[in-house]
Amino acid sequence: MIFGENDYSNHLIVTNLQDKKINKIQSFNKEDWSSAYKNVEKELTKVPLTISKGENIKDLNGTLLRNGPGILERGGQWVHHPFDGDGMITSIKFENGQPFLTNRFVKTKGYLEEEKINKFIYRGVFGTQKNGGILKNALDLKFKNIANTHVVKLGNEVLALWEAAGPHALDPESLDTIGLTTLKGVLKPNEAFSAHPKIDLNSNASSELLVTFGVQTGPKSTIRLMEFNNAGENAGELLIDRKDTFNGFAFLHDFAITPNWAIFLQNAIDFNPLPFLMGQKGAAQCLKSNPNKKAKFFIIPRESGLFKGQPPLVIDAPEGFVFHHVNAYEKDSEIILDSIFYDDFPSVGPDENFRDIDFNKYPEGKLKRSTIDLKKKTSALETISKQCCEFAVVNPRNLGLTATFSWMASTSQKLGNGPLQAIKKINLISKEEIYWSAGPSGFVSEPIMIPSEISSKEDEGFLFILLWNGERRGSDLVILDAKDLKELAVYELPISIPHGLHGSWVN
Ligand SMILES: [Fe+2]
Repeated sequence: MIFGENDYSNHLIVTNLQDKKINKIQSFNKEDWSSAYKNVEKELTKVPLTISKGENIKDLNGTLLRNGPGILERGGQWVHHPFDGDGMITSIKFENGQPFLTNRFVKTKGYLEEEKINKFIYRGVFGTQKNGGILKNALDLKFKNIANTHVVKLGNEVLALWEAAGPHALDPESLDTIGLTTLKGVLKPNEAFSAHPKIDLNSNASSELLVTFGVQTGPKSTIRLMEFNNAGENAGELLIDRKDTFNGFAFLHDFAITPNWAIFLQNAIDFNPLPFLMGQKGAAQCLKSNPNKKAKFFIIPRESGLFKGQPPLVIDAPEGFVFHHVNAYEKDSEIILDSIFYDDFPSVGPDENFRDIDFNKYPEGKLKRSTIDLKKKTSALETISKQCCEFAVVNPRNLGLTATFSWMASTSQKLGNGPLQAIKKINLISKEEIYWSAGPSGFVSEPIMIPSEISSKEDEGFLFILLWNGERRGSDLVILDAKDLKELAVYELPISIPHGLHGSWVN
């Protein structure tokens, strides 16, 4: 079907949260949603994309990079959770507005071994088991670095990231895998390296930084905070390296930064490794909320900031579970931190099929604001929006500073859980919201916000969204105007990309 016939006539723009029109969007068809989950069939090189709707963005130059699971089934066996799928990188390079697509699987050691025999031979963190039952899986603690979570450029290399192990370096043009990298000796071989680096334009250092971390966890958890030069000839050089050890097991997927602080939220969960050791569950399925435990903020002074050399602060955090933070900023002696909170840790149980889950059984993510008082060592939580959402961003120029606007993927309906079908822009001060919806048969991903090069206004720029078009069972790239969420351009992609994870924009 050509795009014109599909035409997204169901897209609604609602300009006020109080407006009930957003509720009128039809509920989704689960097969439209689950049809995205299939193996990516081919690797393409610099294929020009044809516009289906709108116009090319004149003078746009740069590359959109996206990562996500690209292999979900081998020899008839499905992964237990899409997060266990091998990473596949898509790059869409814009040359004066004309996009070209290249895609490659990350050729990790495990991918190459399994590709040869078309069979899963590693257990997955999120519950994928080797064939042969519990006996075959018990005491097998080897894992596959699946490089499927995020993709960023650091120095001359593109890095495919997966938080439990080291980054894979890729050639920035061809996306061919160079191999596991230690970043010129910064990391030990295969050392944990977070999949949520922050590009910091607002630090006290003189140049752009890439700030990231690695965690070694156990009865105590050590956070290694690293700050790399991210501009000019010395891009990729490690400038700052600091380690802090905290009591207890820590599950830290993401963090937030301000010019002076790195902020981590240790969720109130326990890790019971026994079912993993016994071959019954994946490691992530052994995480469980502990209602008797307090979540903690670990607030680490940045060595590029005013409080360098000082010890970290540990402050009780609100209840709930967080994968992703949106942004943080400093206000006198407070840190204001926006995050997506779940009532509990969402996990796909051993007997559930991820392609047929009942969304109502899982907690939904809600945008909430923590106010952390560094003097009194207290924190308070308020809900910004009750609508289910994920993958929220601010203008990258505002990262670490006050931001008025945030853009995110949200459900079409206002309350309850469901697949992410809309892009929402919220004014974090007035709470006014506008939407662009791909419903009823379209499903969105993390919006990547690219600020305008000719305007410094916070909400001027573009949003890039990879969309699963359930009607034609294929992927589209949609470009929206960040200010009013008007559709500017839509491209039908020549590959089908499963619902993915994170990405970045490289100028
Ligand atoms: Fe993430």
